Amino acid sequence: MEALRSKYSNPFSSFFFFYFFSAVFLIFHALPTADAKTHYHDFVVQATPVKRLCKTHNAITVNGMYPGPTLEVNNGDTLVVNVVNRARYNVTIHWHGVRQIRTGWADGPDFVTQCPIRPGGSYTYRFTIQGQEGTLWWHAHSSWLRATVYGALIIRPKEGESYPFPKPKRETSLLLGEWWDANPVDVVRQATRTGAAPNVSDAYTINGQPGDLYNCSSKETITVPVDSGETNLLRVVNSALNQQLFFKVANHKLTVVGADASYVKPFTTSVLMLGPGQTTDVLITADQPPARYYIAARAYASAQGAPFDNTTTTAILEYESAGCPAKCVVKPVMPAMPAFNDTATATAFTTRFRSPRRVPVPNNIDHNLFFTVGLGLNNCPPGARPRNCQGPNGTRFAASMNNVSFVLPSNFSLLQAHQQGIPGVFTTDFPANPPVQFDYTGNVSRSLWQPVRGTKVYKLKYGETVQLVLQGTSIFTAENHPIHLHGFDFYIIAEGFGNFNPSRDTAKFNLVDPPLRNTASLPVGGWTVIRFVADNPGVWLLHCHLDVHITWGLAMAFLVENGVGELQTLEPPPADLPVC
Ligand SMILES: *[C@@H]1O[C@H](CO)[C@@H](O)[C@H](O)[C@H]1NC(C)=O
Ligand SMILES: *[C@@H]1O[C@H](CO)[C@@H](O)[C@H](O)[C@H]1NC(C)=O
Ligand SMILES: *[C@@H]1O[C@H](CO)[C@@H](O)[C@H](O)[C@H]1NC(C)=O
Ligand SMILES: *[C@@H]1O[C@H](CO)[C@@H](O)[C@H](O)[C@H]1NC(C)=O
Ligand SMILES: *[C@@H]1O[C@H](CO)[C@@H](O)[C@H](O)[C@H]1NC(C)=O
Ligand SMILES: *[C@@H]1O[C@H](CO)[C@@H](O)[C@H](O)[C@H]1NC(C)=O
Ligand SMILES: *[C@@H]1O[C@H](CO)[C@@H](O)[C@H](O)[C@H]1NC(C)=O
Ligand SMILES: *[C@@H]1O[C@H](CO)[C@@H](O)[C@H](O)[C@H]1NC(C)=O
Ligand SMILES: *[C@@H]1O[C@H](CO)[C@@H](O)[C@H](O)[C@H]1NC(C)=O
Repeated sequence: MEALRSKYSNPFSSFFFFYFFSAVFLIFHALPTADAKTHYHDFVVQATPVKRLCKTHNAITVNGMYPGPTLEVNNGDTLVVNVVNRARYNVTIHWHGVRQIRTGWADGPDFVTQCPIRPGGSYTYRFTIQGQEGTLWWHAHSSWLRATVYGALIIRPKEGESYPFPKPKRETSLLLGEWWDANPVDVVRQATRTGAAPNVSDAYTINGQPGDLYNCSSKETITVPVDSGETNLLRVVNSALNQQLFFKVANHKLTVVGADASYVKPFTTSVLMLGPGQTTDVLITADQPPARYYIAARAYASAQGAPFDNTTTTAILEYESAGCPAKCVVKPVMPAMPAFNDTATATAFTTRFRSPRRVPVPNNIDHNLFFTVGLGLNNCPPGARPRNCQGPNGTRFAASMNNVSFVLPSNFSLLQAHQQGIPGVFTTDFPANPPVQFDYTGNVSRSLWQPVRGTKVYKLKYGETVQLVLQGTSIFTAENHPIHLHGFDFYIIAEGFGNFNPSRDTAKFNLVDPPLRNTASLPVGGWTVIRFVADNPGVWLLHCHLDVHITWGLAMAFLVENGVGELQTLEPPPADLPVC
C-alpha cells in the first residue's frame, strides 16, 4: 500500500507516465501496479430451474449457476462486472469484504450505496482490490436473494509473490449455504406481513448440494479429491442466510491461515465456527488411511428455544488412492459435531485468532462508541389486524442498534443523498451510546423492548479513529450476532460475556496482534470491541449478517466525509448508477 501511494503521488515517476499513456481510464478508479490486471465479467441475474430435496424451484441465479461463478484475481487487480437483471425482482450485488476505497458506488447494499437494478436494468460494478489477500465472496444485497445469488471471490497474492505458508497442492472453495423448499423471497415476505419469525430452511448446502443425509441428494454430493500426503487449502465461506455453522472434516486437523481476506497466525483445530459473512482459509494434510471422510457443517444455534434448521450438510473428502471397498461400499467416516448450543467450543475457536505479527492498532481514539445490538418486539399498531401481528403475544418482531430499528430510504440511496446534499433522506443523529443504560444481559424490563424506527447515520471525519463496543442484549432472547461492517476491515481487540465493564475489561484489550476482519462474532449475551480508522469516504452499512435480523432493522450506517485532495475523496458516481 505504502509503495503504491508514493508511486502514485509522484507524477514524475516513470510508472506514472507508463500508465498515463497506456491505461488512462484506470487512473480514475485504481492504483495499478506494474502487473495488475483488469477482469471483465458479465453477470446475468435470472430465474433458473434448480432441483433440490426432490423438488424443482425457479431459483434466482447468476448465469444459471448455483452457487454463482467464482471470481479469481490477484491483489491489486481491478474487477469490472456488468450485472444484467433478467429476473422479476430488484437486485444489487455486494462484494463482501472488498474495501471499495473511494468506490462506494460499487459496494452494493440496496438503498445504501445505490438504488436497486430493476428488472430489465443493468449496472457495471468497477473496483480495485487493494491490499487484501485470501477469500472473500459476493452476494445479492436486496431482499433475501442472496439465498441463491452468491459466489466466491478468491484473491491470490500479486504475481511473483507467494502465500506466507507452503504452497498448497490444490485449492478448493467450500461455500456453505442454506436452501428452502420454497421461494426465499416468499419466506421473507410472509414474515414481513405477519410480523412472525420466518420459516427456517430445509437444508444446508456445500457448494449448492445438501449431501448424503438428505432425500434425493446423495448422487450429487460434492467430492473433494486428495492424494495421500499432500497439503491442500480449503477456502470455507459461510454464505448461509440465517445460521452460524460448525464445520469439521472427520479425522483431520485443520490449520487456520486466514480469515476475511487477511492472514492470521496459523493455529490448528478440529472444528471451525463461522457466522454468515465470515470466511476461513485452512490447510488440511491428507495424513489418514486412504478412505472417504465426511466434511460436515451444522448449526451453532445460540438463542435458547428459538427454532432453527437442525439438519447436517456433508461433502466427501476422498483419497484418490483408496480402493473399491473403501471408495464404493464403506460409508464415509462421519465427524462428531459439537452440540448445537456449544458456545464454549464456538468461543474457544473465535478467541484464538491473532494477526501474524504486531499490527498498527489505532490508539488515540476520536470516537468512543457503545452500541447495543439485539432483538425487540413492536406492539401491534392500533387498528392493525391480528394476522399482521403474529409475533410473540400478538406483537411484531423487530431488532435494533442503540434502540434504533433501521429503516431503508426508498427515494434515494443514502450515498447519493449525502453526495448530492439531498435533504430529508436520513438524519445524522445516530446515538454514540444507548439512550437508556440497563442490565443489557439480565432480565430486561418489558418497557424497554420496543425500539424506535429511524434512518440515522453516525458521521465521521476522514481519518478519525473509532473504538466501538458492540454489546448484545437479552431483549426477547440473547443470541450470537455476526456483525459486518462495509468499507473497512477492523481489529477485534477483545470479546467477553455479560455487560462490558470498561474498568475491568480494558485490561483484556489486545493492542499488539489482534485479528483484522470484516465480520465479528458477537458472543451470545456478551460484547466485542473493535477498532478502525475512517479512511474511506462514503456511507457504510454496519449490520447483523443474519438476514432475518437485517430484515427487522439490525443495522446502522457510518457516513465518512471526504478528506483533503483526490485520494481522500469519493469518486463521482458512475453514469449508469441506478436511480430509484
Ligand atoms: C412456512 O411454513 C408454514 C408451515 O409449514 C407453511 O404453511 C408456509 O407455506 C411456509 N411459508 C412459505 C413462504 O413457504
Ligand atoms: C425423506 O423421505 C421420506 C420418505 O418419503 C420421509 O419420510 C422423510 O421425512 C424425508 N426426510 C427428509 C429429511 O426430508
Ligand atoms: C431436529 O428437530 C426435529 C423437530 O424439532 C426433531 O424431531 C429432530 O429430532 C431434531 N434432529 C436433531 C438431529 O436434533
Ligand atoms: C444445551 O442443550 C442441552 C439439551 O439439548 C441442555 O441439556 C444443555 O444445558 C444446553 N447447554 C447450554 C450451554 O445451554
Ligand atoms: C407472553 O405472555 C405470556 C402470558 O402472559 C407470558 O408468560 C410471556 O412471558 C409473554 N411472552 C413475551 C415474549 O412477551
Ligand atoms: C424522500 O423520502 C422521505 C421519506 O419518505 C421524504 O421525507 C423526503 O421528502 C423524500 N425526499 C425527496 C427529495 O423526495
Ligand atoms: C423478569 O422480571 C419480571 C418483572 O420485571 C418478572 O415478572 C419475571 O419473573 C422476571 N423473570 C425472570 C426469569 O427472572
Ligand atoms: C426505546 O425507545 C422507546 C421509545 O422511546 C422506549 O419506549 C424504549 O424503552 C426504548 N428502549 C431502550 C432499550 O432504550
Ligand atoms: C424496486 O426498486 C424501486 C426503486 O428503485 C422501487 O420503487 C420499487 O418499489 C422496487 N420494487 C420492489 C418489488 O421492491
